Amino acid sequence: MAIRIGLIGAGRMGATTHAPAITVREDVAITAVYDPLPAAAQGVRDKYHAAICASAPELAGRADVDAVMICSPTFAHIEGIRAAATTGKPIFCEKPLCRSLAEADEILKLLKGYQAPVTVGFVRRHGAGQQKFHEIVASGVLGTLRVATADMMFGAFKRLDGDWFVDFARSGGMALDMFIHHFDLFNWSFGMPQRVYAQSSLLSRDQAEPADYISGTMTFRNGVICNLSGGWQRFGRSNNYMDVYGENGCVSYKWGVPEVTLTLKGQDPVVYKTPDPLPVFQAEDNVWLDAILGKGKVKVTVADGVNAVKVALALIESAQSNRVIEL
Ligand SMILES: NC(=O)c1ccc[n+]([C@@H]2O[C@H](COP(=O)([O-])OP(=O)(O)OC[C@H]3O[C@@H](n4cnc5c(N)ncnc54)[C@H](O)[C@@H]3O)[C@@H](O)[C@H]2O)c1
Repeated sequence: MAIRIGLIGAGRMGATTHAPAITVREDVAITAVYDPLPAAAQGVRDKYHAAICASAPELAGRADVDAVMICSPTFAHIEGIRAAATTGKPIFCEKPLCRSLAEADEILKLLKGYQAPVTVGFVRRHGAGQQKFHEIVASGVLGTLRVATADMMFGAFKRLDGDWFVDFARSGGMALDMFIHHFDLFNWSFGMPQRVYAQSSLLSRDQAEPADYISGTMTFRNGVICNLSGGWQRFGRSNNYMDVYGENGCVSYKWGVPEVTLTLKGQDPVVYKTPDPLPVFQAEDNVWLDAILGKGKVKVTVADGVNAVKVALALIESAQSNRVIEL
């Protein structure tokens, strides 16, 4: 059986990342595309022989669309989800699931009891290294968990004025757009935080070129205290580190480096090699596509998507109000 995909949003993630990743499979075709930028839609039409649609509802309702992939900008995800949800078709939505708590509530209502597979693009959960990291944390080998860190400084931020990414109202800045990967990973390992506090520039426009930074603390219900530091900068280092410390040891991982380091008290570090068997976006997409075919379940649920948005928005609220936010 072929799975015929309707693609909403044909930019970096839609056209450049997911379209090639899904069409590696012979049982997948892109049959329709919607992007308000004519050149973007035409690119997908030309490459995949997809029909160009004038709106998300038109695309989702087409008889030759079996499943909908939403890769539009964050503020527009809700529009794609509204359209797809009325059809009952499988949905893939890029992260973050949505821009606001009101949209998150609406999505939970729209998708309550939904039968078809729905997932959110937390690609890192599909990386072999991140899975090994999670497995070590979950195994109990670290003993009582105490501390976690996340360092996500990005020194090659290139987006300029006019791009939705640098409009805080549309993207949510570093906290909602990029750090949300780590919020989801911590939720996966520890459950939701109990309280959060942050300071952030929130993409303020007092610099000549767009940049962002957030420094924060999260305290989880299992007692873990997490320190996080992340930014969009236009120079300097780029990092993507996570550590978890327990009473017996520490596990460390840098996204993109195929090894995870476990250091137990009094022992030499052990380095686990974690090459990805497939390009990670392909691995991510395969899980959803296989779930559509009845082979397995999605790894990231709508509830996971909503929970990560709640953490990011709580950190933003804290930075805006200079208050600790309880979740
Ligand atoms: N999983 C990841 O690692 C990852 C990485 C980057 C971006 N993202 C997410 O993917 C999404 C898309 O990001 P991107 O980098 O591809 O952005 P982009 O700006 O490169 O592309 C977005 C595309 O959507 C189109 N678009 C604009 N409004 C639309 C609408 N209302 N309906 C449909 N299409 C619309 C634009 O014309 C553009 O072609 C964002 O939510 C972003 O946060 C995820």
